Amino acid sequence: MHLFSSFKQSHRLLLTVVVVLLCLLIGPVLAVESPALSTQNPDTVIKQLTSEFQHALPVEIKANGEVKRFELVAKPTVAGLIPPYQLPIWAYNDQTPGPVLRVNLGDTVEVLLKNELPQATTIHWHGVRVPNAMDGVPGVTQAPIAPGDSFLYRFIPKDAGTFWFHPHQRSAEQIERGLYGVLIVDEPQKPAYSQDLLLVLDDWLLESKNALNENFVSRHDLSHDGRWGNLLTVNSKVQPELTVRAGERIRLRLINVANGRVFAPQLPGLSANLIAVDGLPGQRAVPLQGLFLAPGNRVDLDVVIPSNAGGQTFNLVNTLGRKQQTLAAITVATESAVTTPRFAAPKAQQFPNWNQALNAPINHEFMLDASSGGQYGIQWTIDDLAWPHNKSLSLKAGRFYRLRFNNRSPRLHPMHLHGQFFQLLARNGQAVQEGFWRDTILLQARETIDIGLVPQDRGRWANHCHILEHAAAGMMTMIEVK
Ligand code: C2O
Ligand code: CU
Repeated sequence: MHLFSSFKQSHRLLLTVVVVLLCLLIGPVLAVESPALSTQNPDTVIKQLTSEFQHALPVEIKANGEVKRFELVAKPTVAGLIPPYQLPIWAYNDQTPGPVLRVNLGDTVEVLLKNELPQATTIHWHGVRVPNAMDGVPGVTQAPIAPGDSFLYRFIPKDAGTFWFHPHQRSAEQIERGLYGVLIVDEPQKPAYSQDLLLVLDDWLLESKNALNENFVSRHDLSHDGRWGNLLTVNSKVQPELTVRAGERIRLRLINVANGRVFAPQLPGLSANLIAVDGLPGQRAVPLQGLFLAPGNRVDLDVVIPSNAGGQTFNLVNTLGRKQQTLAAITVATESAVTTPRFAAPKAQQFPNWNQALNAPINHEFMLDASSGGQYGIQWTIDDLAWPHNKSLSLKAGRFYRLRFNNRSPRLHPMHLHGQFFQLLARNGQAVQEGFWRDTILLQARETIDIGLVPQDRGRWANHCHILEHAAAGMMTMIEVK
């Protein structure tokens, strides 16, 4: 022991000298090595990120030869949101939500839209990758459809999942009045859920039980997070009740069609897994927690009703804000439990590994802000200009881009890109890996986010805030994919 320790002491000095020398030698090497990724040729980084994307989202989809034809008539009608009151609204085929258009992947969708509204309209297929001419942006991809006119939309959706559609003309008014519907594209191998339930979340700003507040795009809405209503509905009902059986495995599709309200949905007492965001399956199913469902967003949940839950009621609640709100009730029948279907939760067949994406250069930074001016007195701007005065960003199809959104305002902005899916890469410079694709991402006050995408479809695609009042007051620009 003694010998050993004296040996140690006599060598300690030598060892220190060696270590110091080694550090001096290796130091510069290490210093070059660790940030090497950022000094790596950006072209190499972009190439690698682009090749990771290969086959993640199909460029083309093979038509199966089936044509699904629908007719939608947009017109004024009434809705019984609060029975027995009849609220004058606008709707597709006298229903709000409009009819659910359900098709299979590979089907050709044909929708004849007849406009019987007192103003022009269009339909945008939110989240659906369609040919640019079918995207429904008035003055950009098509002329507004005048009252009395009709328009035929025709496309083959490239992805299976939960999508929705709504006007892109005076959206802040038309969507608020009740014009929206759901498009579900079924997977070729449809997972064997016991039930597939749709929950369309909305809020309405009522003057009275039979009158909508018709002060659209108000100064208040513009200086806040858009129009937040005083009546919450799910499928245009107040706290509807869904019935399930113990043991069932349910697919719940949630869509936020509100003009401005953000929801934070939770299902206390039930274990819910997130299987899709904005229509597309993710890298893997993850437990539902801390999720913001911003205007435009969809999520699909995989929920197993416990086999001993007969007779119980679970609530879908909104946990955003000071007071938790009940959105809908899920009541479990008292009948005996069914056997829970067993199958692997849906997930993406290919999901690109973009861990290195923050080493790619930022191709453009969108500055989001407000200023006084414009037709409403307050305008919301992207790069200091309000639509249609700002200029489009040009991107090339088939290569990786990193884009930044910088929210210089103290308000929320759910930014939505038409025609593309993207991944969230970072919040305030901190890497984030959600494992999901998105078409809409919520920016909190003064937040900066980075997204990654590989544009595929050519054309002029809108990039706007999905708080419809902010968009009406200029918060929109175009991304031109060449
Ligand atoms: Cu759902 Cu351009 O919007
Ligand atoms: Cu906004």
